[in-house]
Amino acid sequence: MQCQTFFDRLWQEYIAITPQAQRLQQLFMDDGNSIVNDHVAFRTYALPPISLQQLEPLILALGYRRFDHYQFKEKKLNAFSYIHEDELQPRVFLSELKVNELSPSAQAIIHRLCAQIQIDKLETDSAFSQGLLWAKPSWQDYHFLLQESEYAAWMAVMGLRANHFTISVNHLRQPTMTYVLEKLHQAQVRLNQQGGEIKGNKASLLEQTATMADEIKMTFADGDTHTISSCYYEFAKRYADKDGKLYQGFVPANADAIFHSTDRKTDV
Ligand code: NI
Repeated sequence: MQCQTFFDRLWQEYIAITPQAQRLQQLFMDDGNSIVNDHVAFRTYALPPISLQQLEPLILALGYRRFDHYQFKEKKLNAFSYIHEDELQPRVFLSELKVNELSPSAQAIIHRLCAQIQIDKLETDSAFSQGLLWAKPSWQDYHFLLQESEYAAWMAVMGLRANHFTISVNHLRQPTMTYVLEKLHQAQVRLNQQGGEIKGNKASLLEQTATMADEIKMTFADGDTHTISSCYYEFAKRYADKDGKLYQGFVPANADAIFHSTDRKTDV
């Protein structure tokens, strides 16, 4: 029940800035499918008071437990996946940016954002649907972060929220990526092409595909209005391992490619 409320709230915040997700979900429902979420992913900064370590107890309190740990060295990310005792609840993927590995100027911008956070907003699991926990940054600061870390820039304008929801392909009427891609192509949605439309394969036990994030207009602190990436929608197909157990983890190479779903050109 608590999980239901948690994910319903996240979904509402998510579709408000990611209309493609609602449109695509409806498309699959209209084709006779019932929708099960494979996982929901969050991003954060590895800085108090919103570091992974500080946010994690809120996820654990929902009945989740740590499943695995992942590192993305080039993107300077640290991540954990979580699974729920109730198999119908989506897995949770929580990553954090190792801010102390960025340039001193980028670190200073992010420290200024985190210094504005009101701790009382982080007391319950509604922390994950707060959005911005700080005043909007200036375009200059956003653009500076974007050149160094797309993830850092995305967090600065999106804050704490679901970065993406993921449809479980295994639960679709035709549980294949071929079916999913056919529907996505029909819908003429822009797909993440990093490493091909399908990341992973049967041998790696996980296949994923993702849209490119929706774009929204944002007016920055200095009054400039620019188009930025909001969130994207993902699809995941899991295979059973040699013991017949459905794979529960994440494949770092897939995830690394999917992070590019919020990429922006730096000349906007
Ligand atoms: Ni994902």
